Amino acid sequence: MKAIVVTDEAAGTAGMKLVERPEPDAARLASLSGASIAMTGLTAWQGLFEHGHLRAGQSVLVHGAAGAVGSMAAQLARQAGAYVIGTGRAAHRQTALDFGAQEFVDLENDSLEDVGGVDLVFDVFGGDIGKRSAGLVRAGGTLVTVAGPPEARPADGLAVDFVVVSDRAQLSEIAQRVRDGRLRTNIGQIATLDDAVAAFNPTERVKGKTIIRVRP
Ligand SMILES: NC(=O)c1ccc[n+]([C@@H]2O[C@H](COP(=O)([O-])OP(=O)(O)OC[C@H]3O[C@@H](n4cnc5c(N)ncnc54)[C@H](OP(=O)(O)O)[C@@H]3O)[C@@H](O)[C@H]2O)c1
Repeated sequence: MKAIVVTDEAAGTAGMKLVERPEPDAARLASLSGASIAMTGLTAWQGLFEHGHLRAGQSVLVHGAAGAVGSMAAQLARQAGAYVIGTGRAAHRQTALDFGAQEFVDLENDSLEDVGGVDLVFDVFGGDIGKRSAGLVRAGGTLVTVAGPPEARPADGLAVDFVVVSDRAQLSEIAQRVRDGRLRTNIGQIATLDDAVAAFNPTERVKGKTIIRVRP
């Protein structure tokens, strides 16, 4: 089978090449859903539970709740018994609610500050939204971000930025929830391996995860 190997991270797509690889064990081949859950599911899990220490009864503001990471975070937080407020563009309201958000803040038209206080902010944006979100964290709460070092910290809480790491136990739990229908993944487009480079360089914005199908 063919696989894409990154030879030079700084060179973008010019630093990728197609190589022949041995066939993997068929039993380990992931389904399309499986292919989309590792990065998004683990990021959401680690942000909510490892870094954010989210517990049942707490409130969490999930930015980008219609996106790939945010939709996972909204579902997992809801399943953990948290009160979930999702954010995104106006057009994302229904998608975010469908992924488990109980309230939605339209960042194009609503005031983020009207959210009041939350125990946890899960930020995927950084910048101005990330900065303003720090002010929403209640005393003892946490701002968790995957968008790089936070530019502002909660007055009486923690700010944590992290990069997802692989974790077999967490991934097994996430995969089980996908299998039994408790978690839905947000797949944007499915491309063949031959079209992989173009798929990662879209001319138009693609929502959700891009999946490269290695086998026809
Ligand atoms: N540190 C880590 O370990 C880690 C791990 C995974 C992901 N990340 C980062 O997390 C970020 C999110 O990843 P993702 O895969 O979830 O992306 P995504 O699927 O594009 O989700 C982002 C969502 O937020 C929306 N959005 C973007 N800008 C917005 C704005 N200004 N106002 C309102 N809504 C806005 C997007 O809408 P549109 O599609 O309409 O723009 C989309 O629905 C990326 O920057 C990614 O690199 C970091």
